[in-house]
Amino acid sequence: MPLPFDDKVFWVTGASGALGRATALLLAERGATVVASGRSVAETDFGDAPRIDRLPVDVTDDASVRAGFAALLERHGRIDGLVASTNVGAFADFLELTDDDWLRVIQAKLLGSVRPVRAALPTLIDQAKGAIVLISGRGGIDPPPQHFPGASVNAALDLLAQSLGRRYGPDGVRVNAVAPGPIQSPRSARLAGATEERKRFSRTATPGPGLPADVAEAVAFLLSDAAKFVNGSRLYVDGGGQPYA
Ligand SMILES: NC(=O)c1ccc[n+]([C@@H]2O[C@H](COP(=O)([O-])OP(=O)(O)OC[C@H]3O[C@@H](n4cnc5c(N)ncnc54)[C@H](OP(=O)(O)O)[C@@H]3O)[C@@H](O)[C@H]2O)c1
Repeated sequence: MPLPFDDKVFWVTGASGALGRATALLLAERGATVVASGRSVAETDFGDAPRIDRLPVDVTDDASVRAGFAALLERHGRIDGLVASTNVGAFADFLELTDDDWLRVIQAKLLGSVRPVRAALPTLIDQAKGAIVLISGRGGIDPPPQHFPGASVNAALDLLAQSLGRRYGPDGVRVNAVAPGPIQSPRSARLAGATEERKRFSRTATPGPGLPADVAEAVAFLLSDAAKFVNGSRLYVDGGGQPYA
């Protein structure tokens, strides 16, 4: 029986992380060949998932990203979609954060999304079809405590998805953002455990926990032809945000 993503090739950055890995697994399960990136992706356990091709890339290094994309094209001949899901943590009070803290987040998440998009876009445009999903975060409109660089970059990525969608929609390329709220993962566990204020912030109107697979489902939708008229948008996967009570 044919699978929805048979013959598709998707590139997932941050595939060694919780959300990127879940996304890579779901896309592969649905028939895609998934090029899975991350600096440590060689050590990532994808179980016995079929058609996952590990491709170590450092998204803070434009040459590494370009070489990675060239390798992807050489191995697979095409690309149908890109999911950008990288980040590093920098949680602290504003006055404690240094320029280096800000720059680490900007490098890994903002420019770490810009670089793979820039590498893949010309091919997607040549093919006159493609989809890009940037993983931003609910913090882009509703910043959790001590999430200054990450929340700012999430807002920037949401705007980038909208502006790229408008710019390249006429070329057949859709660009959307998925904005997760608190998702059960090693990263969110570290955060939720840190302070009472953050614990409160991780409560959601729809009882959680939100799972990496919930984010992966949203990404799969946006990559699919079912979303062919969805462009420049931001899809929250956050259980509706915080409850009123
Ligand atoms: N989990 C949540 O609750 C949540 C909520 C809202 C938003 N988000 C966002 O969702 C995205 C994924 O989150 P996550 O929970 O999966 O985070 P994670 O488990 O910490 O994974 C982060 C990923 O980024 C990659 N990465 C970091 N620096 C890199 C670099 N220089 N080059 C290449 N890859 C790099 C890491 O790979 P290597 O270390 O192997 O390079 C890893 O695969 C992030 O953008 C995060 O901000 C997550």
